[in-house]
Amino acid sequence: MEKSLRLAWFLVLTTAMAVAPCWSYYSDTKPYAPPPKKVTHLHFFLHDIMSGKNPSAVVVARPNTTTAQNDSFGTVTATDDLLTVGPDVTSEVIGNGQGLWVSTDRDIPGLTLYMDFGFTKGEFNGSSISVFSRNPIAETERELAVVGGRGKFRMAQGYAQLKTYFLNIRNGDAIIEYNVTVIH
Ligand SMILES: *[C@@H]1O[C@H](CO)[C@@H](O)[C@H](O)[C@H]1NC(C)=O
Ligand SMILES: *[C@@H]1O[C@H](CO)[C@@H](O)[C@H](O)[C@H]1NC(C)=O
Ligand SMILES: *[C@@H]1O[C@H](CO)[C@@H](O)[C@H](O)[C@H]1NC(C)=O
Ligand SMILES: *[C@@H]1O[C@H](CO)[C@@H](O)[C@H](O)[C@H]1NC(C)=O
Repeated sequence: MEKSLRLAWFLVLTTAMAVAPCWSYYSDTKPYAPPPKKVTHLHFFLHDIMSGKNPSAVVVARPNTTTAQNDSFGTVTATDDLLTVGPDVTSEVIGNGQGLWVSTDRDIPGLTLYMDFGFTKGEFNGSSISVFSRNPIAETERELAVVGGRGKFRMAQGYAQLKTYFLNIRNGDAIIEYNVTVIH
């Protein structure tokens, strides 16, 4: 008797659930238990090539108020820059830097970088780090903020230390050395 009553209740409940599913757009809120953190250092060179038939960085917009060649304030450049292990572009390609850089300094050459550095080789193939930072390119050594990541770099935080390895001021081609400390 008790068994069949339980079965009846079960049927009532499951049927009710099927008829009126109880949708919710949020889960219960629970304390966050972070997994242990690891640190990884990355070292590579970024090739930002604006010249030639196959540039990796192209201007997509600029304000119509800037006329002087040397005044790039407001210019937006989209990139798909190669990342290589050495400064030579023929050295092993380990990924690419896709995103935008915007000339955001009115007084001196300076950028804000919005870029995803994705890796295509080794342990971090398929993973990427997100950089969103001011980039004061007039300074020889500079630091950028790593604000996130994907794959093995999920929830990453960190910083990138940069040095301009090569710059052609006439056409804007540049090779930048990156040392990145990623905590993930
Ligand atoms: C820039 O664009 C605005 C809006 O179209 C126009 O009024 C202005 O004359 C343009 N300025 C220049 C320098 O072309
Ligand atoms: C650009 O060049 C002009 C003329 O050479 C100079 O007066 C101006 O200050 C320069 N602007 C910048 C942003 O360097
Ligand atoms: C990187 O991952 C992609 C997609 O999983 C795979 O096709 C490719 O062969 C991998 N490359 C290397 C060098 O492991
Ligand atoms: C990156 O680290 C290496 C090894 O410590 C060092 O030789 C190089 O100067 C550093 N480069 C930058 C851009 O910080």
